[in-house]
Amino acid sequence: MKPEERIAINKRQEEFYDRKHKNLPTRIWSYFRNGLLNRMKKGIGVERDIYELHKTWFGDLSEKKVLDLGCYMGNSLSLYLAENSKSYLGIDLSGKGIRHLNQRLKTVDGARAEVMDFLSEEFTEKDFDLIYAYGVLHHFRNVDELILRLNEKLKPGGVIVSHDPLETSIPIKTLRVLYRPFQSDKDWEWPFSRKTYYQFESGFQIMDRKAVLGKTKWTFLINMLPISEEKKLQKAKNWHREDWEKSGLNDDYMFSCMHLSMLMQKRD
Ligand SMILES: C[S@@+](CC[C@H](N)C(=O)[O-])C[C@H]1O[C@@H](n2cnc3c(N)ncnc32)[C@H](O)[C@@H]1O
Repeated sequence: MKPEERIAINKRQEEFYDRKHKNLPTRIWSYFRNGLLNRMKKGIGVERDIYELHKTWFGDLSEKKVLDLGCYMGNSLSLYLAENSKSYLGIDLSGKGIRHLNQRLKTVDGARAEVMDFLSEEFTEKDFDLIYAYGVLHHFRNVDELILRLNEKLKPGGVIVSHDPLETSIPIKTLRVLYRPFQSDKDWEWPFSRKTYYQFESGFQIMDRKAVLGKTKWTFLINMLPISEEKKLQKAKNWHREDWEKSGLNDDYMFSCMHLSMLMQKRD
């Protein structure tokens, strides 16, 4: 992609996040994803497990230089990273997100946030021990360019903790194909395909991974059944456990899930 094209897409992406310029189909999609799906994830404990896992993957942060890539206003772990690491830098395309995060970081020594495009030449900071990218890597169309850039920015032995949507299961792929022509953010939303996963696998050492919402995505069907709330929740939790365990071991199982977290290390 030409630099001018990338800058134009970044501008639209910034406006999308800052002013929430969404057409009706995108608002409906967001309602299901941010409303119903997130409520379901919270109820089953999916979100809590993901954040706990990420914390474990961060390890001891006291000597680490951390980049919170695509931080926006900072998520549940941004402040944890800022307060516990040696140094913390959050970058994002959004001025609004960065202003908000800088307010939250005011009292934290060694922590700051900047408006910055990760791929731009202006971004010269490097030698990060940890790059945290929650909901971010799938916003880069050119995965090879992204992998090169991530490697440039990591110290030897440095790691990435990521979390992104997968488009690999048949029901999700079908929904996405139908939705894509109407999607406001289609120019910067590239949920991982099988190919994307294998590109990351050749670019980095994947130290660990967990995917969610494989069998668990069918919880909404269980919710329609005339059985007790307790039984529904127990079934959903059992499915989540199964997704969690099996997705780490089996590629096909992982590809049946909706979201993927990875711990990736820079290769020697
Ligand atoms: C889905 S949001 C995730 C925000 C945050 N990490 C969280 O967990 O809430 C994706 C963010 O990535 C940012 N982003 C996308 N491409 C970027 C780039 N090239 N450089 C910096 N940030 C980028 C967007 O501006 C957006 O705020």
